Amino acid sequence: MKTITLTPFLISLLTSPLSTNAAGFATVDLSKSTGAAQFKASGFIYGWPDNGTNAATGIAGNLVRDIKFNANRAGGAQISAGGWARGGLAQYTPRFNSALSNYKTTRMYGGDFILLVHDMWGADGGNVGKFPGDNDNWTEMENFIKQVCKDLRANNMLEGLVIDLWNEPDLTMFWAKSWEQFLSYSARAYKLFKQELPTTNISGPSMAHSAGKNDKNWQAWARSMAGNKTIPDIYSWHQIGDWEREPDSTIPDLKSLQKTYGLPDRPIDINEYASKGEQNPANSVFYIGQLERWNLRGLRSNWGGGSALHDFMANLVFKKSGTYQPNGEWQLYKYYAGMTGEKVATTAATDRKFDVFATKSGNVAKIIAGTRTVKAQYEVRVSGLSSLGLEKSGKVSVKTYRFDWSGDSTQVGAPVDIGTKDMTYSNDALTILMDPATISTAYAYELSARK
Ligand SMILES: *[C@@H]1O[C@H](CO)[C@@H](O)[C@H](O)[C@H]1NC(C)=O
Ligand SMILES: *[C@@H]1O[C@H](CO)[C@@H](O)[C@H](O)[C@H]1NC(C)=O
Ligand SMILES: *[C@@H]1O[C@H](CO)[C@@H](O)[C@H](O)[C@H]1NC(C)=O
Ligand SMILES: *[C@@H]1O[C@H](CO)[C@@H](O)[C@H](O)[C@H]1NC(C)=O
Repeated sequence: MKTITLTPFLISLLTSPLSTNAAGFATVDLSKSTGAAQFKASGFIYGWPDNGTNAATGIAGNLVRDIKFNANRAGGAQISAGGWARGGLAQYTPRFNSALSNYKTTRMYGGDFILLVHDMWGADGGNVGKFPGDNDNWTEMENFIKQVCKDLRANNMLEGLVIDLWNEPDLTMFWAKSWEQFLSYSARAYKLFKQELPTTNISGPSMAHSAGKNDKNWQAWARSMAGNKTIPDIYSWHQIGDWEREPDSTIPDLKSLQKTYGLPDRPIDINEYASKGEQNPANSVFYIGQLERWNLRGLRSNWGGGSALHDFMANLVFKKSGTYQPNGEWQLYKYYAGMTGEKVATTAATDRKFDVFATKSGNVAKIIAGTRTVKAQYEVRVSGLSSLGLEKSGKVSVKTYRFDWSGDSTQVGAPVDIGTKDMTYSNDALTILMDPATISTAYAYELSARK
């Protein structure tokens, strides 16, 4: 076990009394870089309009590029054709084509594409009837996977591709058979995809329930994948709602599962994050803070249905008078996309209802801060100001922006500049009190030398 030695100054920072009304505090240590900023939370699931087998061009390119979009996950869900299990090739091909169109749109913007196998099978809700491995007969599943691989090769879809073995197999809605049958499917599908497409990354298990060291499904999955040597190239799961906790809790649980069952370290995709009620600027900052701290790639959930699922960049934009417009969340992601340079070390509030993300570029620090569906005051305790070229005590210029939210389909302009203040600090540390206007409002603070 590694022991961490706290310097007397850090102890005083961590224990200094809270401002009168603060419910807690998050920390930012500007002296500790944690790697280059990569905008790891700037992905979403579905959200591209379908355009036959071509890329979609209806959404203006700046709406995509300005948020540094970098990952999409889709497979033709919820279109009129029901998928392989509901009618073989004729029902499968339109779903494959939807995925192909979404793949091309994603690649046009340089993103990676995570392919949803369960969608092309047709297990995207409703009564699909059959599942891979029914009656221990795997022939149909093998024919299906071979067809998928053939189409991926024929359409030149391997670059930037990840195969996601099955979506939310722990929910009956997506996998109506036993857990043991799912584990057999995972092991067999992994082997077949590797045989057909040896260099393509595979992700799994993409459970709805986040990694839990006491979760029976997770334990059985870890034991079975290690035993079969079918460990995915990328670990994946969903973080949707506070009932599923957050990466500060679930990453240590994954580590514990890895240790118990002998699973190696792998990159991690949180390939759906946030419930519908959590899609607003404050909660998005909370998720960004969590994802970035643990270097997780994150894709926003998409709560649209039917044709709305296949549009609107997972509710970052909406259509008015035939034109796509950005909403308040889009503005938050645009600001996040401008947080270039080095990421720095942060911690969330101990109640896990407030988090921050911060970067440093040259002598300027940018911090975003937001709560998790609470309207309460929190402090941002920033240390290491001298790493911005400042004295150990004195005054620092703090520019504050507010991110408003009026729902999915209301345009919100650029973040509101609510002024620049010279704030006094000492011992190389500054405390900023955030008093949010609503449960959805996020804030940004830009720190630099006084003009
Ligand atoms: C669909 O794809 C075609 C061919 O690339 C392109 O000309 C057209 O603009 C696209 N339409 C939309 C709405 O994306
Ligand atoms: C297994 O499934 C395939 C394809 O559905 C079918 O043709 C075959 O007869 C099945 N085998 C047995 C032993 O039932
Ligand atoms: C596949 O995995 C490798 C190793 O982790 C990684 O470097 C690469 O970026 C991944 N590719 C995609 C498309 O995820
Ligand atoms: C491989 O996976 C299957 C399906 O879960 C399981 O029954 C079997 O025990 C696993 N094999 C090993 C060696 O763990």
